[in-house]
Amino acid sequence: MDGLTSDLDSEIGRRLSKLVNQPQLVRWILEEVSSSFSQQNQEPAALEMARRFNDGEPIQYIFGHWSFRSLELKCDTRALIPRPETEQLVDLVLDSLKALQGRRVLEIGTGTGAIAISLAVEVPGLDIVATDISTEALALATENLDRFATQSTVKFVLSDLFESLDKELKFDLIVSNPPYVPSSSEIPPVVRDYEPHVALFGGPQGLNIILPIICQAQNWLSGSGARVLLEIDESHGSAVVEAAEVAGYSGFEIFQDLAGKDRFARLTY
Ligand SMILES: C[S@@+](CC[C@H](N)C(=O)[O-])C[C@H]1O[C@@H](n2cnc3c(N)ncnc32)[C@H](O)[C@@H]1O
Repeated sequence: MDGLTSDLDSEIGRRLSKLVNQPQLVRWILEEVSSSFSQQNQEPAALEMARRFNDGEPIQYIFGHWSFRSLELKCDTRALIPRPETEQLVDLVLDSLKALQGRRVLEIGTGTGAIAISLAVEVPGLDIVATDISTEALALATENLDRFATQSTVKFVLSDLFESLDKELKFDLIVSNPPYVPSSSEIPPVVRDYEPHVALFGGPQGLNIILPIICQAQNWLSGSGARVLLEIDESHGSAVVEAAEVAGYSGFEIFQDLAGKDRFARLTY
């Protein structure tokens, strides 16, 4: 490593450790500056990163990139930081695509493009349409897509839920990690003060986006057996199952995340 080691005992390491009391984070900052900055700029860059971190900014926005499955995604305040749970949602999508032998995928609320681009990189021959209501998020998703060689096509569409989609389209699978935080929830300042609220909050109970997705998705599914995969708030399992029952889905299952919390719903048309 040029001039700087990611060793906490290096001169910058010692200085950083006084400012940021988390050894793993200090290591990350050291690695980041040694790979992105010339030797003479590494110390000021590291100290500036520590200052921003101490001001409460998420480390993912400070670095400007973050990993999601096999991807290193560009990451900034235009979109939600992709979360580890959502990597599991992609696994559920992959299982369903195998079971269905499906090819046509719709994502609602793509943000950085994490889900859609992962699918396009990992699976050959998919036709993926990915929407978002935020022009800023779609600009970031497009920048991310341009950075990867994909085996499938991805088309981004500015749309409020299904509103601007071509009415002829049908999908074998619809996936969404919608905004699901109830608007009155107390959430940590590092999330509340930096991440886009349109990506976080789903109305008073957190269900304002997910319920219309459940109700309307069947109009866009290719036929019997087609599926909807959703990331949900841990408290929303029964509301989601009830909505799926009322909407007439033939199957509905809830899956847990690695922390054992209800986190995903799989609905079958
Ligand atoms: C929780 S974020 C998920 C982002 C990304 N898919 C991920 O998993 O990291 C929800 C996304 O839905 C978008 N969104 C919110 N309301 C929407 C709507 N009515 N129609 C389409 N997208 C919406 C937000 O802009 C945001 O990008």
